[in-house]
Amino acid sequence: MKIDVLLGLQWGDEGKGKIVDVLTPKYEIIARFQGGPNAGHTLEFNNIKHVLHTIPSGIFHEDKMNIIGNGVVIDPVILMNEIIEAEKVGANLRSNLYISRKAQLIMPSHRMLDKAYEEQKADNKIGSTLKGIGPAYTDKTARIAIRIGDIFLDDFILKYNSTKTHHNKIFKGYEFDGNNDDYEQKWFKAIEFLKEFQFIDSEKFINEALNEKRSILAEGAQGTLLDIDFGSYPFVTSSNTTSSGVCTGLGVSPHKIGAVLGICKAYCTRVGSGPFPTELHDEDGQTLRDNGNEYGSTTGRPRRCGWLDMVALKYSIMLNGVTKLIITKADVLSGFDTIKVAVGYKINGEVIDYMPYEMTDKLEPIYEELPGWKSDITNCKKIEDLPVELRNYIKYLEVQTGVKVKYLSVGPDRTQTIKIK
Ligand code: GDP
Ligand code: IMO
Ligand code: MG
Repeated sequence: MKIDVLLGLQWGDEGKGKIVDVLTPKYEIIARFQGGPNAGHTLEFNNIKHVLHTIPSGIFHEDKMNIIGNGVVIDPVILMNEIIEAEKVGANLRSNLYISRKAQLIMPSHRMLDKAYEEQKADNKIGSTLKGIGPAYTDKTARIAIRIGDIFLDDFILKYNSTKTHHNKIFKGYEFDGNNDDYEQKWFKAIEFLKEFQFIDSEKFINEALNEKRSILAEGAQGTLLDIDFGSYPFVTSSNTTSSGVCTGLGVSPHKIGAVLGICKAYCTRVGSGPFPTELHDEDGQTLRDNGNEYGSTTGRPRRCGWLDMVALKYSIMLNGVTKLIITKADVLSGFDTIKVAVGYKINGEVIDYMPYEMTDKLEPIYEELPGWKSDITNCKKIEDLPVELRNYIKYLEVQTGVKVKYLSVGPDRTQTIKIK
């Protein structure tokens, strides 16, 4: 048995939460492999909208196991609040949620460090969600972080204080007030709350499950273009968001990766700073934002919007080894006379069709135009119901990428999903 992967091919917010929720009935186990509460994964069913930050998006299905893998960074306060909210709508987290002992903890001082580093950057801010993600992963690599499994050890407080002392030295150097006492109090309360939940050695658990032929879906957070190695560095997050992150973030060998489901919006969005060649600053951009309700699930910030970038999409497909595509938010394009897709960039008078080393704002997109459609597609149930122009758009994407489109999403609700292949 192999583990399937679902991950974002753009700058995040592609609709991963919704699609994982839709696909969960096909799997026994859903496992998050990287990122932390910088993620906001939205699910909608029975007129309830739910945003998850750390918990895998399979949690609203009875009897499905949801694992927070070792590659994830956890803020106990945020996880506790998520658990409480999910329990209110009937999710059974006491039996269905499993937490890897090796997942790293985001400390209250990591949140303050995020702020301190961003302030230093003046005009070059990353636009971080300020959830402490970068500093937590930094400490993991520096080998001074604490893991959630440590909360059961006798020397947990010693470990915590040792890392905090290190952070205080950084604050001093930056002349930054890193005090976060109120949050620290909540943090320790949340640690006590979490002790009641199930902690596992998830790498062992997952490999045994695969040997027992149990089906697993790995859920990505953020998107490929935010990957620490391959994204638009330095405007990226601090983990490997690509399919290789599944191996390190869950402890499975590359031989055990099965289908790689790449999810992408029918256009592009980005939150935070960094290059975005197809970004629209005009009426069309505002229409995409309005129609797609493009405001961040985690921070509420307006998302930057633009046309689909085929150059970036092909790069993402290559990096992840995508076997099937899932296109979301097709309904948001309804009403446009024409739909544009960037197939190359102009830079310094030269035309290129690949991602250059430096992805700058100077890249001028070269567009192909396709006919749009006017009808509302949010109630369409099968491919035959879709306007011919949209069916042609799907075909165009398949020809350009060489990958088949498996699902099309036409609205935020679970039921607004069309199986294509
Ligand atoms: P994620 O981070 O990839 O899980 O995506 P987010 O939840 O942050 O952002 C996607 C947003 O689009 C959420 O508000 C979803 O409810 C919504 N959404 C998902 N699929 C569709 C779709 O096909 N059409 C529309 N209109 N909204 C969608
Ligand atoms: P999901 O899983 C969209 C962006 C931030 C910022 C950069 C670094 O919901 O798709 P960080 O907090 O990691 O230091 O932020 O990455 N970012 C996201 N953008 N969706 C996300 O997650 C994101 N997580 C981080 O806006 O530009
Ligand atoms: Mg999101």
